[in-house]
Amino acid sequence: MLRRGMIMLSRSSAIKHVAATAPISRRVVSRFVPGEETADAVRAATELAALGFTSTIDHLGEDTLAAEQATATVKAYLDLLDALAEKGLADRAEVSVKLSAVGQALADSGDTFALDNAAQICAKAAEVGTTVTLDMEDHTTTDSTLSILTELRRDFPMTGGVLQTQLRRTEGDVRDLAYEGSRVRLCKGAYQEPDSVAFTSRQEIDRAYVRSLKLLIDSPAYPMIATHDPRLIDIAAVLAVRADRTQDSMEYQMLYGVRPDEQGRLAAQGNRVRVYVPYGDEWYGYLVRRMAEKPANVMLFLKSLTSRR
Ligand code: FDA
Repeated sequence: MLRRGMIMLSRSSAIKHVAATAPISRRVVSRFVPGEETADAVRAATELAALGFTSTIDHLGEDTLAAEQATATVKAYLDLLDALAEKGLADRAEVSVKLSAVGQALADSGDTFALDNAAQICAKAAEVGTTVTLDMEDHTTTDSTLSILTELRRDFPMTGGVLQTQLRRTEGDVRDLAYEGSRVRLCKGAYQEPDSVAFTSRQEIDRAYVRSLKLLIDSPAYPMIATHDPRLIDIAAVLAVRADRTQDSMEYQMLYGVRPDEQGRLAAQGNRVRVYVPYGDEWYGYLVRRMAEKPANVMLFLKSLTSRR
């Protein structure tokens, strides 16, 4: 219930306006979002690299309905990639892109427009020596996103994809993507989905995660295990040993500011750990989703709306 309510809250433009103009405590926002500018993202990636982590940087924003906005998002990514290259971070920082932020939802030719835009970002990433992962959004976009991924991989084979274990279709998609060199991020899924297409109980989603994880780890693909769930992280470690995987043949991924101790523990054991770093002025919806996942943070967030510090 709370999760559903929070997700509805994330889409309320009235409440978003209040939150964006209220004296929000920087402490709460900056715990999950390092800032609004390219320089903030680069600073976070630099700090993470110094601690032994790689990163994947997301320019916040989604569901763009204006072509100019999509073009501005592409420019933000190109600038970001140049800035990462300038700081010598291209081998340790990649970018995550939501296709709806680069035009997928535009009427008529949204798919083609998003493909062209994503290809520009992939080309720049390849030029500076890094990669792109396409975030996965709600289930109505899955087919389009996977076919754009297939197109992009023809020229940019390192482009990563994301599969969500809450969707009933996902084991099939894992099988399709479980080939040599295929970078696949496995997550539970952050969107409110109907019963008809998704598992809705936590147990079912977790069991589905384990099934897909096993398929992926036993395959020649490159698994990117994106979860903060301690049980699933333990299971991944066991499956990796059973499959004789080396530590550099897979990676763990977590969100910026979430379970930093666990991120450190995994890295200290020699695992590859990539941190997902969101930045930009569209932080509100992202922040509310993180609240929905961890209700203990809700009070902190609500208090911050009225705090002057
Ligand atoms: P879940 O939220 O079920 O929590 C399980 C357990 O993890 C908790 O019981 C607790 O023990 C621990 N935990 C979780 N959050 C914690 C916190 N804040 N503090 C302490 N412990 C905590 N989604 C999507 O739909 N498309 C996408 O492209 C992506 N991309 C993505 C990239 C990366 C790197 C990550 C980590 C996640 C995503 N997601 C995503 C989001 C993902 O689908 C999911 O919504 C969140 O990761 C939350 O699910 P968890 O697997 O972390 O477990």
